[in-house]
Parts: sequence; structure tokens; C-alpha cells
Amino acid sequence: MLKDTAVIILAAGLGTRMMSDKAKVLHDVLGKPMITYVVETAGEAVGNNIIAVVGHQAEKVRQVINKTHDILFAFQEEQLGTGHAVQCALPYLTEKIKDVIILCGDVPLLTSQTILKLAEDHARNRRVVSVLAVQLDDPTGYGRMLVDEDGNVSQIVEQADATDAQKCINIINTGVYCVNQIFLKEALSKLQANNAQGEYYLTDIVKIANEKNQVVGMMLGENAVEFSGINSVEHLKAVEAVLEAG
Ligand code: UD1
Ligand code: CA
Repeated sequence: MLKDTAVIILAAGLGTRMMSDKAKVLHDVLGKPMITYVVETAGEAVGNNIIAVVGHQAEKVRQVINKTHDILFAFQEEQLGTGHAVQCALPYLTEKIKDVIILCGDVPLLTSQTILKLAEDHARNRRVVSVLAVQLDDPTGYGRMLVDEDGNVSQIVEQADATDAQKCINIINTGVYCVNQIFLKEALSKLQANNAQGEYYLTDIVKIANEKNQVVGMMLGENAVEFSGINSVEHLKAVEAVLEAG
């Protein structure tokens, strides 16, 4: 288990593409709520040091998690973006927390082994930000990892903001990060929403780290299926099929 590390789980969104008025993370995946998978994985990695950011149907999400786990909750009243969501969780981080792992509530197949590997890679390379990335045949919809000639990660560009050339990049951001707490606080205070979606993007912390000459990098995940995010009923069925196949 990781020491002096907390997990923040982003779970405030509604998930409009699920075509349901139920918050996305409450949907069952083989009879278990999607969010419960993620909380279990986080628990294996950091014990009780978990903060879930809730918004849509916050009370229901809290109740579902509380059935099995004793964690903290941060409330994001309006969904202003992933960066803003993490900001809402900052007051719950104690001073002794050195690094923060950020996860999404809609990625139920992620394993704690992968989180441990990311934390190890982060420490070994003495980074302030480590992004878990993966190569996909079809990167459509994901944030693309921009890597410069020296192999340094310079920026993450969202689909909505990407140029045609950038859209051809097939190494994507899985939405899983390990970030130094002190840097995270500083970087989030600098976020601006001047992008195609008018949101505060968490992904901008990569650019901010580079501007501050801080060490930032990525770890490439091996098994793309593990990072499947559920955005639609079809995705949910596909993830269930993976679990059933064992
Ligand atoms: C995000 C990343 C993208 C990455 C992808 C991986 C950003 C800007 N983009 O995009 O680079 O490839 O994840 O799946 O971060 N959420 C909140 N509050 C908000 C907004 C989102 O709690 O205000 C939660 C959602 O409920 C969800 C997670 O954050 O669990 C990700 O949000 P989503 O809008 O799905 O991000 P993507 O557009 O998929
Ligand atoms: Ca989005």
C-alpha cells in the first residue's frame, strides 16, 4: 500500500450519453455499481485516504459508497470541468499527503497494481506530474499526449481543441494521474477556461508544469482495455463482456 498518498475520484458528472437520468457512476456493472469498483481499487492502493468528488445525485452516490467504504466526500455543485472538480477536493487533503492519485469514477477496470506502478514510476523519475497514457487504435474522443523531439510530454490536447494533425496522435490520456500535492495546489490555482468547452481542464497542469520547469512525464499502460471509460450503454456492455470473460 502507498504511504502519504491520497486518491481523488472524480464522480460529479451526470454522463448525458448514458441516456438515463441516473448519475453515470451509479449504473450497475455486472450487478455492482460502477463507482464501487473504483473505490475498491483505490482502497487497495491507499487504504482510507480517499476523497470522492460528487455532484449529480451526490446523496445517492454517497449512500452507495458508504455501504462498503468509509471515505471522504467533496461536493462540486456545478460541473465546471475536471480541474475544478479536483479543486473542490483540495481542502480535504492533509499536509502529510505528498502525492495525489487522480482517478475517474467511470473507469471500473483499472487495477491497483497499475496505480502502484504509476506511483513507483512517478517517484523514480522525481516528477511533479505523471500521466498514465496508453496507445489506442482509435483515439477519438480522448485527450492526446503531445510529446516533443526530446521525448518530453509538453501538453495534453483535448479532442475538441485539437488540430487535424494532433487528432492523428494515438497516445491518449487515460485520465489517471499521480501529482505532487504542493504542485497540484499551485497549478490548479492557475487554470483558465479559455478552451473549446469553456471548462477548467485538469489536463492543463501538464503545460503549467513545463512552464515552471518542473519534471512531468507519462507512463505507458500495457493493457488498453483496463482504461476503458464508460460513456455510453455500449461501453458499459463492452466492459461487462470483459469482466465476464475473466
Ligand atoms: C478527460 C480528460 C481527457 C482524457 C479522458 C479519459 C480532461 C479535460 N480531459 O476527458 O484528456 O482522455 O478524461 O477518460 O480532463 N467530472 C467531474 N466534474 C466535472 C467534470 C468531470 O466530476 O466538472 C468527472 C466526470 O464525472 C468523469 C471524469 O470527471 O468521471 C471525467 O470527465 P469527462 O467529462 O468524462 O472527461 P473527458 O471529456 O472524457
Ligand atoms: Ca467532457
